[in-house]
Amino acid sequence: MPKNEKAWTIFEALRESHEKQRAFSEKLIKTSGDSEERRELFELLKNELFAHAVAEDRFLYIPLMMTDAGLNITRHALSEHHEMDELLEQLTQTEFSNSGWLAIAKKLSHVVHHHLEEEEHHFFQQAGKILPEKQKKELAQKYHAEYIKYLNKEKDSLV
Ligand SMILES: [Fe+2]
Ligand SMILES: [Fe+2]
Repeated sequence: MPKNEKAWTIFEALRESHEKQRAFSEKLIKTSGDSEERRELFELLKNELFAHAVAEDRFLYIPLMMTDAGLNITRHALSEHHEMDELLEQLTQTEFSNSGWLAIAKKLSHVVHHHLEEEEHHFFQQAGKILPEKQKKELAQKYHAEYIKYLNKEKDSLV
């Protein structure tokens, strides 16, 4: 979290995790076979995507969905979150040594990059016009607390 955390907005808070998602997915698609590196990076990416999406759904998209202007971008973003969940599930169900594993990981990396690009260059701009300034700062605090909570949670216990 930056030093001036009281001043940061929901969008700055969200971007911090986006950078991690990009780095983990780029490294993941350079791994091969059932290696320690692949296992570790997959775990890191999966945890990051999960914690980010839970907190982002709850503290960006739900408030936006309550506005008419935010309805379309919210539906679009949530469908991409769902697409990422399905690819993560496919990767979880596939042996690390399976020759098809990397193809699914590449597809996930592509979807992640596309989604982040769309949020940062399109959805966040629109959301910035919809949400009041005070709310953007309050949501940053709530998002961040939820993100930290889920980053440390055992995901399988939620299923
Ligand atoms: Fe995001
Ligand atoms: Fe997202």
